[in-house]
Amino acid sequence: MNFKLVTNSPALTETACVVLPVMQEGSLTFSGQAIDKSTESLIGQILDRGDFKATLGKTFLLPFAPGAEAQRILLVGMGKEAELTPSKFRKACKAAYDQLAQLNLHDSFITLADTPLQGRDAAWKLRLLAEMAETSFYRFTEFKSKESEDNLPEEILFYWPENQDSAEGEKALQTGQALGQGKNLARTLGNRPGNVCTPIHLAETAQELVAKDSAFSTQILDEKEMQELGMNSLLAVGKGSDQPPRLIVVEYKGAKDPEEAPHLLLGKGITFDSGGISLKPGEGMDEMKFDMCGAASVLGTLEAVRQIKPKINLVFMIAAAENMPSSNANKPGDIYTTLSGKTVEVLNTDAEGRLVLCDALTYAERYQPQSVVDIATLTGACIIALGHQATGLLSNDEELAKELLEAGINAEDRAWQLPLWEEYQEQLDSNFADMQNIGGRPAGTITAACFLSRFAENFRWAHLDIAGTAWHSGKLKGATGRPVGLLLQYLLDQETKAATSE
Ligand code: BES
Ligand code: MN
Ligand code: ZN
Repeated sequence: MNFKLVTNSPALTETACVVLPVMQEGSLTFSGQAIDKSTESLIGQILDRGDFKATLGKTFLLPFAPGAEAQRILLVGMGKEAELTPSKFRKACKAAYDQLAQLNLHDSFITLADTPLQGRDAAWKLRLLAEMAETSFYRFTEFKSKESEDNLPEEILFYWPENQDSAEGEKALQTGQALGQGKNLARTLGNRPGNVCTPIHLAETAQELVAKDSAFSTQILDEKEMQELGMNSLLAVGKGSDQPPRLIVVEYKGAKDPEEAPHLLLGKGITFDSGGISLKPGEGMDEMKFDMCGAASVLGTLEAVRQIKPKINLVFMIAAAENMPSSNANKPGDIYTTLSGKTVEVLNTDAEGRLVLCDALTYAERYQPQSVVDIATLTGACIIALGHQATGLLSNDEELAKELLEAGINAEDRAWQLPLWEEYQEQLDSNFADMQNIGGRPAGTITAACFLSRFAENFRWAHLDIAGTAWHSGKLKGATGRPVGLLLQYLLDQETKAATSE
């Protein structure tokens, strides 16, 4: 899809469809007024007659627009101006794009960045609109044998008035598009079935993404190399599968000083989680192909970084394995010595995410990172605690937690913090090893994070539990691309912070 900024008068812009925001109070924006004038007040009459109430997320299509350069007009209800929030704005934009997708047009002209929205500037709105254009027209058709009949738009024009900084507009457009494409990559990887998206597939995807770019270098550790290092916990999870595990590392050098300490993202990449010997029940087990969505979000963020090139150093890491039962699989009661030297008693082979992440966290120490954020579909308990709205956040550093929460708010991809108090740690006490890998039913998300925290003592670290936010179940089953928005925003904020402290 091609994106372009339009700076001249909206009424003079030729398009298959112009998209106009309408406030419930009946007011139009500058674009709306200009187009209303050119159509002898067609829009005004529709509003006066009460045919379109402009409630939030409702749309109204005028299939003809005599007098205007646009062939059609799509009115988008924004609800009451005083009650408009960023998430309501997003909801209305989504409705507009969904309506456009049904119209099968070659192009359209979006003027929604005009909408008055407290606390968010035009660049923020434009960036969100660009991101949402990418994500709203995303279709996952890789495994359909017949081509879809949908004609999605080839070009989208965005109104950006002449009196606004055009470089700022271009940047918002580029950032939004990179983010949208990064999210879509995360969704595609998540949606691919487990028989295709294996640990090796994740490794190859990482390599291909950055192959031609000298700012990146890739390192893939296979079983032999992990064995020599002593990553016995990660290896234990992969043992029950014929698909070999991998530790994937991509380094990015964007800072002026190549030695500047990097920020590190680590994704859980369980390409299928059957539960292992502690086998999961059959119902809905297919959804455990999504158990690599943390890894997918790391690669989605990598894709956005590849396009945007922020001036910071980064390390992207993925702990990839398939969790299957076999006669060689690890089993309840088994004890492993992790890369850190700490020993773990596996009481439930279905608590495998922490077993792959703990060794990766220890491995992360060698990069002496400024911050480490792991992203994992770690616990069903997180869905019980926070539902499908918020990502769970736990951290050993309050400032880091705050930065991530704020990034989530800014990116419309929110997280909510849970406590990581010392008092929870004792639920991991084991009679036979340094710790056990489960903490019982109470506070399952917190005890999982407590387990990880024992391997993150030497750096600022935060954990994002995306079990409830990484994919939709039911009729709209599919990966969401979360939390790529939060992660990219966090990294861009780190870039700003580094630039202002110079
Ligand atoms: N991948 C699952 C967590 C999960 C379950 C995410 C359902 C999304 C939906 C994880 O590996 C797991 O199985 N966790 C167990 C931990 C338990 C055995 C302590 C869980 O949540 O039941
Ligand atoms: Mn599991
Ligand atoms: Zn899992």
